[in-house]
Amino acid sequence: MTPFDFPNAPLLSARGLVKCYGATAVLQGVDFEVAPGEIHALLGGNGAGKSTLIRILSGHADRDGGELVYGRRSGQTTARAAPCNVAVVHQELALLPQLSVMENIVLPLRRKGGRLFDRRQAAAVARAALSQLDESLARHALGRPVNELSLHQGQLVELARALASGADILFLDEPTTNLSASETERLFAVLRRLVREHGVSIVFVSHRMKEIRQLADVCTILRDGRTVANREALDDLSDAAIVERMGQLRAVAVASRTERPVQTGTPLVLEHGDLRLSVTPGSILGLAGSPAGPAALIAMLIGASRGGDWRQRLPGWPARFTSPAQAVRLGAGFVSGDRAAKGILATLPIIDNVMASRRVVQRQLWAGRHERRDCPELLRTLQVKAGALHDLPATLSGGNQQKLLLARWLALPTRLLVLEEPTRGVDIGTKRDIYRLIRELAERGTMIIWWSSENAELVELCDRVLAFDTGGRCVGLLEHEDLNEDRLTALTGVAA
Ligand SMILES: Nc1ncnc2c1ncn2[C@@H]1O[C@H](COP(=O)(O)OP(=O)(O)OP(=O)(O)O)[C@@H](O)[C@H]1O
Ligand SMILES: [Mg+2]
Repeated sequence: MTPFDFPNAPLLSARGLVKCYGATAVLQGVDFEVAPGEIHALLGGNGAGKSTLIRILSGHADRDGGELVYGRRSGQTTARAAPCNVAVVHQELALLPQLSVMENIVLPLRRKGGRLFDRRQAAAVARAALSQLDESLARHALGRPVNELSLHQGQLVELARALASGADILFLDEPTTNLSASETERLFAVLRRLVREHGVSIVFVSHRMKEIRQLADVCTILRDGRTVANREALDDLSDAAIVERMGQLRAVAVASRTERPVQTGTPLVLEHGDLRLSVTPGSILGLAGSPAGPAALIAMLIGASRGGDWRQRLPGWPARFTSPAQAVRLGAGFVSGDRAAKGILATLPIIDNVMASRRVVQRQLWAGRHERRDCPELLRTLQVKAGALHDLPATLSGGNQQKLLLARWLALPTRLLVLEEPTRGVDIGTKRDIYRLIRELAERGTMIIWWSSENAELVELCDRVLAFDTGGRCVGLLEHEDLNEDRLTALTGVAA
């Protein structure tokens, strides 16, 4: 039966999709259907196959089996369907940074139509698409190179490109992982308007239950490459039921914040003007608020900047590190929030990625024999879903790449670990695993400094939280009963 037998034909209908990488079947019979004008959440744990499915449905990858029908074009069943009515905003943005906003929007159109716009036409097309999303950006930014934009604005450019292509279905693969709470709100408002006014359908991927419920009507859940819930109404599914279907029951036992025993040992003292703050071994200090403030402190702690107003004091450490390598050798570890640009070594295999910090510390230039034993053990601790140690990180799902960055520091006697959004893009179960791991690291005496845009996460995990306002100034240090989401929101001016 084809979808044309239905009075209300789905826009897209996939049955029994199969995708293999080498001997591994990543999709093992996925069913997926999108109806006109709906907001559809595509859910599943890290490595469940969400991005792979999107790549196939959007014509960016071939499938190895199954049926695929695009509703408005009859019986499209070739192995590679490059449908013109589907557009994707990818998990990592796919923009050409040196080109202008306008060029980024019209470039794919030029190729597809085989005809060239003149500059005036191109500007008109780009402006029309972008002004549906953000008037002021459309008016002022068309000629600016994309690398001058914020991440949120870059995302709007990708969305505009999708709109300009005349897409009926927009796929957004984890669009909110790098956005602040207010940017997420704005994006959602834009998406709702697109559905209401333009009748497009939206399929989006997220690991955050709160925003899934805020935005979506229905969901499809994947687990290990199979559909375990097919277009079910979100209102009919409890959080626990969703988590259970995803196979992540361990996430349901939510830990409450516990007061840790009094910590001892020589503290790291941080100084900024009149502010003086001690971080004791074994304690977790959170950083909250808009990025400018935390970023300046973090740059000092990891040896990335020699300027700035922050200073540190700890026996054996200089007041400022002279380089990131010095910071690493003296025991200051760092997990960057910018996974793609500053974290993953994309051209090196998984084993080199995991062992990178240890090699810096031990001044070792090539792989030691022990690494073949230690690396798999580290990956197991974090339950990383990986193929062979010599595969490239690009063969891992987004969340599993995030875990590689953490694994780097587990095998080292790190005195201080600085974390920027370490749970970005990881699934609900893994988030719990990472929390547990960080608590354990702290219990072993590591000082943790944790920057997060999720206030709830800071309140749950940290002993104290340093709050910064939107101008980047320190505005308070919260602890004990003062440490709650309301106080954090009030101090930082940022709800999260
Ligand atoms: N090019 C590739 N070569 C080999 N394996 C791959 C490749 N791309 C993806 N995989 C594997 O396919 C599985 C599914 O990956 P996919 O990226 O679709 O997961 P996902 O559901 O999007 O996860 P996440 O939530 O972490 O983004 C993973 O186990 C991954 O390792
Ligand atoms: Mg993915």
